[in-house]
Amino acid sequence: MEIKMTLKPERERNSDSIKNAESLSFGKLRSDHMFLMNYEGGVWKDARIVPYGPVEVMPGAVALHYGQSVFEGAKAFRHEDGEIYTFRFEENAKRMNHSLSTLCMPEIPVDIQMEATLKLLDVERDWCPAQPESSLYIRPFVFGTEDALGMEPSATYTYCIMLSPSGAYYPGGFKNTVRLLITDRFHRAVSGGTGSAKCCGNYGQAFRAAKLSKTYGAKQVLYLDSSNTYIEEVGAMNHFHITKDKTIVIPEFTDSILKSITSISVMELAKSLGYEVRQERIRINDFIEQVKSGDIIEAGGFGTAAVITPVCEYIFENNEVITVGDCTIGENIRKIYDAYTAIQTGDAEDKFGWLTKVPRG
Ligand code: PLP
Ligand code: COI
Repeated sequence: MEIKMTLKPERERNSDSIKNAESLSFGKLRSDHMFLMNYEGGVWKDARIVPYGPVEVMPGAVALHYGQSVFEGAKAFRHEDGEIYTFRFEENAKRMNHSLSTLCMPEIPVDIQMEATLKLLDVERDWCPAQPESSLYIRPFVFGTEDALGMEPSATYTYCIMLSPSGAYYPGGFKNTVRLLITDRFHRAVSGGTGSAKCCGNYGQAFRAAKLSKTYGAKQVLYLDSSNTYIEEVGAMNHFHITKDKTIVIPEFTDSILKSITSISVMELAKSLGYEVRQERIRINDFIEQVKSGDIIEAGGFGTAAVITPVCEYIFENNEVITVGDCTIGENIRKIYDAYTAIQTGDAEDKFGWLTKVPRG
């Protein structure tokens, strides 16, 4: 694919700011450039890398009215050799296509998504931070741009990849555990809906419940299925727990749960560390009982941004709180977190072949 480059002059680039920062917040900073490509007349065209800035959109664009918009989240890491590596980006590209087809949008071949991302990362390599728990967060997204108010899929689209030098998603990073709200009044997704796609509507509609969770001192909501029977997932991560016989249990992927790349990776890694791993439908009542009885000893969330986030408390709307273990980061979560992040940062051998080095030039 030919990628047209319109780059900022060197003197106008300022990635030094990230090198001097003690720690970085999540998702606030931008690198100098972005990748853009348009879909028109049935083809993807005009691949280009340009300075990061506003993208013109007509007020009648389908994405703005009917939410025809999907995104991905991936990370690139700076290793000690000074090179930049992406983590399982092909999986993100495949999932992007799942999301695109779910929303009746045109797919983008995986190799094109890969090439665009690697090229942008090459241009922006100075923006990849080296601080602990930091990465260059990759946010590809596609949105319908046709100026048409009939309720039909857009005929035109824009694919954009932007980069954000970022630190931990939850402030403080891995040293903290979090509390989740369990509510039976709000749901993230329903069977037959779009929960397994990474589409904007799933997130915008979840702000209301997330806002409620804050009033309970919680970071997020642990969503149940719409019959309030089974555990589904958290707003920005899959959920897991570890039983006292050291089995890692993750809710079965259904069409209302996003198939997390962190989850599938940790399952593979944990097996190699000697853990049993199981996916099943988990009844919320069984979960509560097993937390109370001590059969569940650790719990948390898996996600690209959230990595492995330990959860220590669950609160209900009647203010009842249940606590997992002694509310510290458990030894199993710590062991898995260390092994997982060591592969990402290059401190351990990439024995699963998850990393791709960003080629130079
Ligand atoms: N579930 C939801 C709803 C998410 O937004 C995310 C984040 O991407 C995840 C799970 C974790 O998925 P992944 O590990 O692929 O980032
Ligand atoms: C990610 O983990 O990459 C996500 O997309 C979650 C996001 C909602 C912050």
